[in-house]
Amino acid sequence: MPELQRVASHLIPSRQGRSGDDPIFALNDEARTRQARGEDVLNATLGALLDDEGRLAVLPTAARAVSEVAAPDWAAYAPIAGPPAFLDAVIADLFATDPTLAAQSVAVATPGGSGALRHAIATFLEPGQALLTTDFFWGPYKTLADENERTLRTFRTFASAEALDVDALDEALGAVLAAQGRALLILNDPCHNPSGYSMSPEDWAGVCAVVGRHAREAPVTVVLDNAYAAFAAPGAMDTARAALAELAETALVLVAWSASKTFTHYGLRVGSLVAVLPDADERRQVGNALAYACRGTWSNCNRGGMTAVTRLLADPVLRPQVDAERAELVRLLNGRVTAFNTAARAAGLKYPRYAGGFFTTVFAEDAKAAAARMRADGVYVVPIPGALRIGICALPTSGIERTVEAVARAL
Ligand SMILES: Cc1ncc(COP(=O)(O)O)c(C=O)c1O
Repeated sequence: MPELQRVASHLIPSRQGRSGDDPIFALNDEARTRQARGEDVLNATLGALLDDEGRLAVLPTAARAVSEVAAPDWAAYAPIAGPPAFLDAVIADLFATDPTLAAQSVAVATPGGSGALRHAIATFLEPGQALLTTDFFWGPYKTLADENERTLRTFRTFASAEALDVDALDEALGAVLAAQGRALLILNDPCHNPSGYSMSPEDWAGVCAVVGRHAREAPVTVVLDNAYAAFAAPGAMDTARAALAELAETALVLVAWSASKTFTHYGLRVGSLVAVLPDADERRQVGNALAYACRGTWSNCNRGGMTAVTRLLADPVLRPQVDAERAELVRLLNGRVTAFNTAARAAGLKYPRYAGGFFTTVFAEDAKAAAARMRADGVYVVPIPGALRIGICALPTSGIERTVEAVARAL
């Protein structure tokens, strides 16, 4: 065999050296391997809601709606921007109580909230520009920025365990605008991943004041990533919605909407990016740009999935059924939240206010070392800079106390 001549890498330089495996999935694999060997291991790494027997919690009505989608509906292409009935149902889900916001909205279908975030980053920032988010953030924000040739800049999330650091946002937003003339701010609320924090009315008032001031000088886009909204404490989404209405007076407001958690169908890949624009001509232009982005990225989304989700959102029989089933899951999750708060307060752990949602984080100086000590104790959590992320969603209620004890020992 003639010796192959070595050529330069086929990978373009910007794609070289990328990690192919997700560290959270690697930890999850290790925990599951130990469980399969019969070890008594608690696995709080993944972001899916499990029941107390460790099975994926699936809303029965959602599963039925998916199974009732007819073959031609799975087989045919969907419209590029998404089926109008689906987009209307998403907008109504977000803004039924605010007809002005609903009338000012334009939406496109995306594969999950991830696709919505992708479109937001690629459509409202130039290549090389930085998105702005809290310094505790969902890791894929950085991946999405990298993959789309944008960067990520953060501001300090918390002024205290009870308050967002609005001054840090003010300073960072000013600096980003000075550097690049436009800004895109991603806020994940309610039930922030990874911290579990839900913004208070005071936090939102602070954000509105800061963004409003900057947005009068330069284009500011605010993306609300509300992937966990259906699991929040009552009223949390109302607070966010009222703030969005105020923000929309000066800034471009986007919502990254996702069916993954809302309907416990993570693999269905159904989502939407919703943009609020009071000006009809601008709304048309943004709608066109987003539809073009769909065509140029994934063409169209899962038609069968969107058909099922449209029924779940809009059918007068299915909607109350699925909402009632979800309320049961929220009760299950809230039981774990209460158990965590009780045990964590007693153990003196430091963590942001946690009133609901899939995750919480405990502040930890050397999180990697603490997580390693916990693994030796048979408890798996995710170390992130400055904290341990605990997937309360994946822990049985009976395992919460042991998890808190393991955290307390490891810190
Ligand atoms: C903070 C946050 N945003 C968005 C998403 C989007 O998920 P999906 O693309 O499945 O809708 C997730 C999923 O884990 C998330 O944790």
